[in-house]
Amino acid sequence: MSLLGSRIFVAGHTGLVGSAIVRRLQAAGATTLLLRSRVQLDLRDQAAVERFFAAETPQYVFLAAATVGGIEANRSRPAEFLRDNLQIQTNVIDAAYRHGARKLLFLGSSCIYPRDAAQPMREECLLTGALEPTNEWYAIAKIAGLKMCQAYRREFGFDAVSAMPTNLYGPGDNFSLQGSHVLPALLRKCDEAVRSGAQAVEVWGTGKPRREFLYVDDLADACLHLMQHYSDEGPVNVGWGVDVSIQELAVQIARVVGFQGQLRFDPSRPDGSPRKLLDVSRLSALGWRPRVDLAQGLAATYEWFRNHRGQLRL
Ligand SMILES: NC(=O)c1ccc[n+]([C@@H]2O[C@H](COP(=O)([O-])OP(=O)(O)OC[C@H]3O[C@@H](n4cnc5c(N)ncnc54)[C@H](OP(=O)(O)O)[C@@H]3O)[C@@H](O)[C@H]2O)c1
Repeated sequence: MSLLGSRIFVAGHTGLVGSAIVRRLQAAGATTLLLRSRVQLDLRDQAAVERFFAAETPQYVFLAAATVGGIEANRSRPAEFLRDNLQIQTNVIDAAYRHGARKLLFLGSSCIYPRDAAQPMREECLLTGALEPTNEWYAIAKIAGLKMCQAYRREFGFDAVSAMPTNLYGPGDNFSLQGSHVLPALLRKCDEAVRSGAQAVEVWGTGKPRREFLYVDDLADACLHLMQHYSDEGPVNVGWGVDVSIQELAVQIARVVGFQGQLRFDPSRPDGSPRKLLDVSRLSALGWRPRVDLAQGLAATYEWFRNHRGQLRL
């Protein structure tokens, strides 16, 4: 039976990635989406996950539930990043296999590659060097998830695949200033500065690190593509293929938001890895390309932000 006519569980459907996967599946005509909020089903709870899979027997699983966050959240909550992610992924991958799911797609991340990996980063560089210390707790958990998918494929023949997205942004992002990633945090700060008439916006770090950003609806499209066309144990990078400096990003965001004041860089704040760019040749060879460039994606994200002021994750 095809993906779209099957029972599909999107774990983490209220999040940035999960909500985009739901939008994409609905647009493609998926008939049976199984969705549970964290209150209905805490994925850290093994017994609850077991009951859910036994009752609903999802045939396809997109595992987009995780404890995620930016540098500060990783630094201050190492135990939660490690424990929650290990629990969520172990419970879901194991239950999916034991209850007969046909396929599972696990979300890894570009930030689990070694800090000093050669750029652009190929999938083969995983576990070839030391991790970026600011997110090693999250990375260790995610690497275990990736390895679990590989191990279940080798030992049990379970069709579990892993996607490795670059930095994502778009509708539904987390705009909290402490817990979020650089792009939504800057977008919110610039918006607040325009509204309050502030003359300067503070940007963490030197502005020199280079990052790649992918609009989340492109990622969702890639996830469906992988679910339908990829079955192997190697993870697959999902990125735009081009990076920008944080300074260039800040300038673009200021332009989209209409902030004309000063961007003030604070070098006392951590920079993280100097550069993170994915080699996307494996995904390109599978016939997939992104569509939404940074200028279009920022404009769409800011429009969504303005239309959802009362409902933002802050
Ligand atoms: N954002 C990025 O830039 C990025 C980049 C690369 C990879 N990824 C990967 O993509 C995946 C999703 O990230 P995201 O950015 O979409 O994160 P997000 O916006 O924070 O969403 C996380 C989702 O997981 C759910 N969740 C968390 N803990 C849960 C629990 N214990 N039980 C049930 N649900 C739980 C959240 O539910 P609540 O709404 O109730 O909290 C939310 O729906 C993660 O695996 C992440 O590593 C993200």
